[in-house]
Amino acid sequence: MAPWHDPALLDRLARVRAPWDALTARVVRAAVAKFVPPGPLVEVGAGGGQLRPWLPPDRAADTTHTDSSVPFLDVLRTRFPDAATKPAEVTALPFADGSLAGVLGLCVLDTLPGLAAARDEFRRVLRPGGVVLHVLDLATSPGGAFAELIVRGDFPLPNFAADPGVLEVVTEAQRVLLPVTDAFDEVLAVPWADFTAFVGMLKAARHPLAADLLAYADPADPVALDPDALAQRFMHYRNNPDRLRVLYRALLGVTLTARSLGRAWPLRGVSLRAHLRERLRRVFGDGFTVEFAGPVLAWEPADGENVLRHTGKTIPGATALPAATPVEELEGAKVAVPAGAWRATTVEVFAAR
Ligand SMILES: C[S@@+](CC[C@H](N)C(=O)[O-])C[C@H]1O[C@@H](n2cnc3c(N)ncnc32)[C@H](O)[C@@H]1O
Repeated sequence: MAPWHDPALLDRLARVRAPWDALTARVVRAAVAKFVPPGPLVEVGAGGGQLRPWLPPDRAADTTHTDSSVPFLDVLRTRFPDAATKPAEVTALPFADGSLAGVLGLCVLDTLPGLAAARDEFRRVLRPGGVVLHVLDLATSPGGAFAELIVRGDFPLPNFAADPGVLEVVTEAQRVLLPVTDAFDEVLAVPWADFTAFVGMLKAARHPLAADLLAYADPADPVALDPDALAQRFMHYRNNPDRLRVLYRALLGVTLTARSLGRAWPLRGVSLRAHLRERLRRVFGDGFTVEFAGPVLAWEPADGENVLRHTGKTIPGATALPAATPVEELEGAKVAVPAGAWRATTVEVFAAR
């Protein structure tokens, strides 16, 4: 089954989103009000229709929801019987040239391998002044970023070096041997040539660390560099904490071993959201004017400790808010600053006209 056609995925997304629903809806409504002119709208990659209840009701009434997955659109119609839907590929939208005021998407442009073809189709269906508005409230799908990293000769590993469980068990002397990364960088990129040389050597020596790393990527495996297969494996590890812990332990051991042997093992932190932002800027920079690209923050007062959800990670006891545009700025309101404990989330917003 193709990764996006399993209706169980929609239940999982709804469960993860539910606690943050009100804050996410606030960001979406502010972005629609600020960037999207009046008129008919299409949503691409609508899935089970999560975006619909977050839209201002009059704009939801203007929206036709499309998706290449017919089972997903069946779910959408069951949830929202009055919604207009049409099955459609993002690159073949069933609308006349220049007929729409906006193209909306929620967590979809990050999943598309060929963004330029989608951009050209958006340009075709939009009227002059029409807008593409993409919002991303969850973790970024890694396939697009992985394809670009692999083409550049880099290989993506899960970022073990920012994991609190790893940092807790290393000594100060070991900690300085780890790469310095942002806690929200999901990926560590290593040159594929260095990966194959060092992991190949560990494999040949039957080093105990090798087996757990080879389960993630074996240099001898011809599909090791298939971005889609690797993205699915990466997500599988992220969704299985026990397996991820084993992989982190192997990556830590391999990194410390490489450093002690003086082997080439350079690791660079990569934020998938930042990568997507730059990719969207680059692709839409041709034919559109990018009006906004970055995280937007909404918060509410909370009892007890602070809780932050950012780039798909939820962090209880967070001590600081991430750098982001406050939602009040999009709303044209005065920016509010939390005085006590807060619950906060960021939504990555991209708008191009
Ligand atoms: C990560 S899901 C997001 C679904 C929904 N927007 C949400 O956030 O709950 C990506 C969606 O894009 C759809 N999709 C993927 N590739 C597509 C394509 N080439 N054309 C149209 N829809 C596509 C999938 O079927 C899926 O519904």
